[in-house]
Amino acid sequence: MADQIIHPKSNLARRAHVASFEQYEQLYAASLRDPRAFWRERAARVDWFHPFERTCRQDFGNAEVAWYLGGKLNAAYNCVDRWLEDRAEQTAIIWVADEPGEYRHISFHELHENVGRLANLLRAHGVRKGDRVCIYLPMIPEAAFAMLACARIGAVHSVVFAGFSAESLRDRIDDADCQVVLTANEGLRGGKVIPLKATVDAAVEGLPVRSVIVKQRTDTPTPMKAGRDYDFDEEMSKQRAFCPVEWMDSEDPLFVLYTSGSTGRPKGQLHTTGGYLVYASYTHELVFDWHRGDVHFCAADVGWITGHSYIVYGPLCNGATTVMFESTPVYPDASRYWQVVDDVQASIFYTAPTALRALIRFGDEPVKQYGRESLRVLGSVGEPINPEVWQWYHDVVGGGRCAVVDTWWQTETGGILISALPGATPCKPGSATFPLPGVRPMLVDEQGTELTGNDVAGNLCITGSWPGQARTILGDHERFRQTYFTTYPGRYFTGDGCRRDADGYYWITGRVDDVVNVSGHRLGTAEVESALVAHDYCAEAAVVACPHEVKGQSIYCYVIPGQGAEGVEPATIEQELVKAVRDAIGGIATPERVQVVPGLPKTRSGKIMRRILRKIAESNYEDLGDITTLAEPAVVEQIVAGHKAGKS
Ligand code: PRX
Repeated sequence: MADQIIHPKSNLARRAHVASFEQYEQLYAASLRDPRAFWRERAARVDWFHPFERTCRQDFGNAEVAWYLGGKLNAAYNCVDRWLEDRAEQTAIIWVADEPGEYRHISFHELHENVGRLANLLRAHGVRKGDRVCIYLPMIPEAAFAMLACARIGAVHSVVFAGFSAESLRDRIDDADCQVVLTANEGLRGGKVIPLKATVDAAVEGLPVRSVIVKQRTDTPTPMKAGRDYDFDEEMSKQRAFCPVEWMDSEDPLFVLYTSGSTGRPKGQLHTTGGYLVYASYTHELVFDWHRGDVHFCAADVGWITGHSYIVYGPLCNGATTVMFESTPVYPDASRYWQVVDDVQASIFYTAPTALRALIRFGDEPVKQYGRESLRVLGSVGEPINPEVWQWYHDVVGGGRCAVVDTWWQTETGGILISALPGATPCKPGSATFPLPGVRPMLVDEQGTELTGNDVAGNLCITGSWPGQARTILGDHERFRQTYFTTYPGRYFTGDGCRRDADGYYWITGRVDDVVNVSGHRLGTAEVESALVAHDYCAEAAVVACPHEVKGQSIYCYVIPGQGAEGVEPATIEQELVKAVRDAIGGIATPERVQVVPGLPKTRSGKIMRRILRKIAESNYEDLGDITTLAEPAVVEQIVAGHKAGKS
């Protein structure tokens, strides 16, 4: 059956920045004809203190990329000061508190004062240009103030998602050598209290952290260590509201953000100032068809790249009103998003398929409780969106009037690379459609041969740089080169599989490496395995992804008990190890199941056959392939029996 095509709505096309598919094709062709000219023009959207001399330098062989060389600018100036002249009183941030009905509107003028004060505060605590600052905050405006305050003085922020454990936080603080940490006493989410300061206390123990600045989000007092811990509001009140900006080189670092890969510890992806800012603001305007006056509601968390690019930097660099949402889609009930949409009159709404899948279970009624007339564009990000979910988003949430854009990108790409455009692209539900102008995807087979033409499937690479690309892994450029540029020399390898259908549409099929995508969040199986083997109940572990109805994928662990587990009931071992993973990484990494096994399916050379383990986790017992080459084929039967027993 031919895929269904959903054409752009004429009312959206009329006002869109790209108003037809022909216009997209022309723009795309022009961007390939002369990429440098194309990106040079895009750079005019930000304010440069000193113009750049050269648009791009690129050498994928050495993983060296630089954009807008010689230019000087400041990201906070572009996101805040620039708008003081004609929209000082316009709302920059609408904060939506966890408790329904509680909102705070922050104008560009107020944002400027808060960022200035916080920048001075950081300076008073010894932070200088180039220093790293850790931000471990819930979704409160102070998180955005903090990012922009760092940018203002040229410090490099490292935002750590406030759901990560003390151990994960500690690793990140240590890796980036952060001497100042911003946190809150507690976070609030869906009515639940998250003890952030206690986690920071455990994380920084023994590390050379100079200052911990604590925002009181709730009234609960928190122990403060004299000489190290400071009250956020008290410190802010001591500072002047004006802080001069540091003019940064285009290639000076703006932030580091940690992501999981298939091997080793999380990697600190380093983004720089000029290219990132141009790319975040360009894609925000283009993909969401943002126009002045539109309220942009991205429901992500600032702890992820989506929050960086499409809550803070992209929208604010365009002078937009952006929403920060502290709560969950189901608090106090499944109509929360739509209540917020109506209350703030959002034109754009952006979330992950996992949230939509969770909401679909409640039916259409919670959506229909609210009018949603302000909505025009609905975005999806983080994982493949099932066609049925796409259709529900379009028909029910969007009432058939809104564009749905499935946006494919990564922490490493800084911004969206493949997506429909609201006024231009005929969509096929479930496909991210086409590359943005300036972006050159390529499909390759295992040997690295390019798969040309349509109706092909392979691994997704990008040939040629774009300004938002991460520049390196903090402190380990060789790892950056190895991870992204050596599998297919001369190309950036995304780690994703992809199909280009007969009409040239791109369909992302998911990771081809050992990365699990849980609710749109990336987790390396190696990271989970090392959390398991750190416990003396576990001698050896193999972790695989398992399909999950709401989360997309979940974590399934096979473990061989260790010496410490002698005489311990398997059920206890399983519970303890689930807890060990949560403690080591955080709640998002909670395994769906830990299965105790007598052995793992290995080849004679000792390689674990994950393919078999994945199939068993999916209950796909019939199709295990050839197991005769295994060192101990009998072990497979035992694992299957254990899996079946666990299900019942
Ligand atoms: O596998 C792809 C998936 O998420 C990965 C990137 O994860 P992260 O760096 O955490 O960034 C998530 C937010 C940008 C990708 O390698 N992914 C992201 N967007 C999509 C997607 N898979 C399918 N469709 C998407 N729209």
